[in-house]
Amino acid sequence: MTGSTSPRDAWGTRAGFILAAVGSAVGLGNMWRFAYKASEGGGAAFVLVYLAIVALVGIPLMTSEFIIGRLAQESPARAVRRLGGPAWAPLGWLFVLCGLGILAYYSVIAGWTMRYAIDAIRNAIPSDTGAYFGEVSQGVDAALYHLVFMILTITVVAGGVKGGLERANLIMMPLMFLILISLAIWAVTLPNGAGGYAYYLRPDVSKLLDRDILTAAAGQSFFSLSLGMGALMTYASYLQSKENLAREAVTVALSDFGVAFTSGLVVFPVIFSFGLLDQVGESTVGALFIALPAGFDQLGRAGDYVDTAFFVMLLFAALTSAISLLEVVVAALVDGLHMRRRDAAIFAGFVIAVLGLPAAFNTTFLGNLDALVGQFLLMVGGLFTAFLVGYRLLPAADAELAKGMPNAGMRRVWASLVRYVAPVVLIIVLAFLTGPTWDAVVGLVTYAR
Ligand code: TRP
Repeated sequence: MTGSTSPRDAWGTRAGFILAAVGSAVGLGNMWRFAYKASEGGGAAFVLVYLAIVALVGIPLMTSEFIIGRLAQESPARAVRRLGGPAWAPLGWLFVLCGLGILAYYSVIAGWTMRYAIDAIRNAIPSDTGAYFGEVSQGVDAALYHLVFMILTITVVAGGVKGGLERANLIMMPLMFLILISLAIWAVTLPNGAGGYAYYLRPDVSKLLDRDILTAAAGQSFFSLSLGMGALMTYASYLQSKENLAREAVTVALSDFGVAFTSGLVVFPVIFSFGLLDQVGESTVGALFIALPAGFDQLGRAGDYVDTAFFVMLLFAALTSAISLLEVVVAALVDGLHMRRRDAAIFAGFVIAVLGLPAAFNTTFLGNLDALVGQFLLMVGGLFTAFLVGYRLLPAADAELAKGMPNAGMRRVWASLVRYVAPVVLIIVLAFLTGPTWDAVVGLVTYAR
């Protein structure tokens, strides 16, 4: 269909596709950010708002990304232009920009994770975890591990869809699930752990209508579900069969939520049981890397094993997400510029590695990049994806969805959510976010100077 001579990459199996999509969604965002936001934002009340957004905005948009991908059979950067017309080309550029921007700092955090995992395998937990984190998270050390992580990501993506992405997910995702479930069961046995569950989920109903909770939940859902920049669209472009794409989206979203929720059931009992709650308030990412190991450390020898398991799990989750970010850029180069996959992976990976260096030296820069690209621009991308599918391509998109979902009533519900509900929610949230995003942009520009 694309008219190219060499056959396009494709998944080996349907399960391979789903596992890779879940692998993309489940990442650093699940393991820490979700539980933290929930504990801050009204506990069970946050979880409710989050689930509502996932159902009303996340799943319909993920379905839309799947539809465009499978319909187009080419990279999102080209697909939106060919299907929507020349006016839509900037949306494709935005996707690629988000891929570059997010992976640049994501890989820095993944680099810390890798360092933690390697050190945990070799040594006992350091006695001052705060000082250790300070050492790991900034400067030359951070830059080095960021580069090593990028090389790992490049290697997987260079291996192709079936031999690289699918195989990596097939190995890492089951192990990740196994470790997570073991940790959650272990956490039940902790003294005073119950207080942690209670703290994590204590419902604060007054927050239900709080606008900060709405923005936090929307931002978290977009990032966690890998929406808004064509990542899942790219994955779906390697599909040819006629599965029910809405059902696949539900599967991916629920798995993602399940992992995020379960991670909280590990993190909070540990933090609570060892009286480390005050350390959590200080910084968002830092707490995962400081408070948790400090907790594990109090368990002596056994704690060293748990610490190792935790950071290996986190590393797997990060890697299966990073490859989906790089794949968006690589697919654009392969389909758009006819580069060879391997060259494209090395080239794009190199550019991203360089872009990430400021984030490795400065965590404020990292945070600002996350606020601009990882929150705001993702939702802009999601908004325009909703417009494209809901207003410009609806008949074709509906027909594509119908291949696996013959029920017209259900498809009408989907279309209404994409046309009306998702844009309204996104516009409101984007309006709330303009202030903080502007501050982040100012921060980025100031640093650059
Ligand atoms: N979803 C991943 C996480 O929770 C991060 C991620 C991977 C992502 N691919 C993405 C986020 C595409 C946005 C868009 O950690």
